Amino acid sequence: MSTAWTDRIRADLDLLREQGQFKTLRNLLKPMGPESEIEGVGRVVVLCSNDYLGLASHPEVVATAHAAVTQWGAGTGSVRFICGTFDYHRQIESALAELSATDAATTYVSCWNANEAVIPTLMAIGGGDVVAISDELNHASIIDAVRLGRQINKQSESRIYKHSDMDELEKALRASAGKKLRIVITDGVFSMEGDIAHLDRIHALCREHDALLIVDDSHGVGVVGKTGRGVIEHYGLLGKIDVLTGTLGKALGGAAGGYVAAERGLIELMVQRSRPQLFSNALPPATAGGAMKAIEILRRDTTRVDKLRANVEYIRGGLAKLGFETVTGPSAITPIILGATARAIAASKRLLELGVFVIGFGYPVVPEGKARLRVQISAGHEREHLDRALDAFRKL
Ligand SMILES: Cc1ncc(COP(=O)(O)O)c(C=O)c1O
Repeated sequence: MSTAWTDRIRADLDLLREQGQFKTLRNLLKPMGPESEIEGVGRVVVLCSNDYLGLASHPEVVATAHAAVTQWGAGTGSVRFICGTFDYHRQIESALAELSATDAATTYVSCWNANEAVIPTLMAIGGGDVVAISDELNHASIIDAVRLGRQINKQSESRIYKHSDMDELEKALRASAGKKLRIVITDGVFSMEGDIAHLDRIHALCREHDALLIVDDSHGVGVVGKTGRGVIEHYGLLGKIDVLTGTLGKALGGAAGGYVAAERGLIELMVQRSRPQLFSNALPPATAGGAMKAIEILRRDTTRVDKLRANVEYIRGGLAKLGFETVTGPSAITPIILGATARAIAASKRLLELGVFVIGFGYPVVPEGKARLRVQISAGHEREHLDRALDAFRKL
């Protein structure tokens, strides 16, 4: 059937194909892990997952998710303010508050939702006169949350500063000096660059200018810091950041779910006002159970964090020896810049043929001319996986 809107959709999809931006989803036939199996391709080493601690298929995590379903059933049946908070919500929120070194935490079904909860809710307080100040490379969920906040509070404003440019951030803070509330928002680890925020300086600027600081450490928790507590641990800022957001869908079990961690009053405001919690179901038992075990494993000792760090060093060293330009720093993300989008896509296709699953990112996800492969390492990788991957890069 062809109608005006189906024709319109087809034209948009054709345009994406012409521009080389059409995404083909791979069909996985085995669980997520250091390696998996892709339909029509076979066994592959996975270098594109956020399962940084190798916990997505970890037996203890899987068993605890099972046990949570057995104890609590498959779902919550409604939103929390109608049907109540389950005891497992309280348990995971207390574990997340401890991990984040904050008074309290509250959960959402994703970190996307957590960002869309906390940012617009804070942009709406006080009836106006609010400025959100955001790094240009912040995650899409932060960008959209600021846009939403501006719609909800029409008197609010937003400013974007150049990536990690502390002079620009300071200028934005000075320029908004008369405002009732300034909110500075940054990723902890920037997902496309693999670099980390200058949190020591951002924190100092926020204190100096009396601005509220929100850090989304979705790629940092479980990875960065001596015991994997994220960028706050790396910079010695435990207990000093106003608001932390994060995901349960990466290092903390790789399933889904997100959280906001902060002082108790702010968390109470989220429960009262944040729309993704008021109008959307709560975290289901299996995801909460699995994530709770993942947090326990992370807090038990540093074995996995240490192994991840050693693996990152090993792959970066190997890639550098092969002539690829890599980055330094404490994240588990290594972008390999190849230039043109078509080049990055072709490289990822070739690597897949060689048994390595790694994604090429091009425009508009990254700037024109900065297309790249993004290599992500896990504590689940053994040397054998990393050597297989390096051999494929050598052939590439
Ligand atoms: C910085 C950042 N924030 C939020 C998200 C979204 O997390 P979730 O998958 O829990 O919605 C991501 C995921 O890529 C991210 O990188």
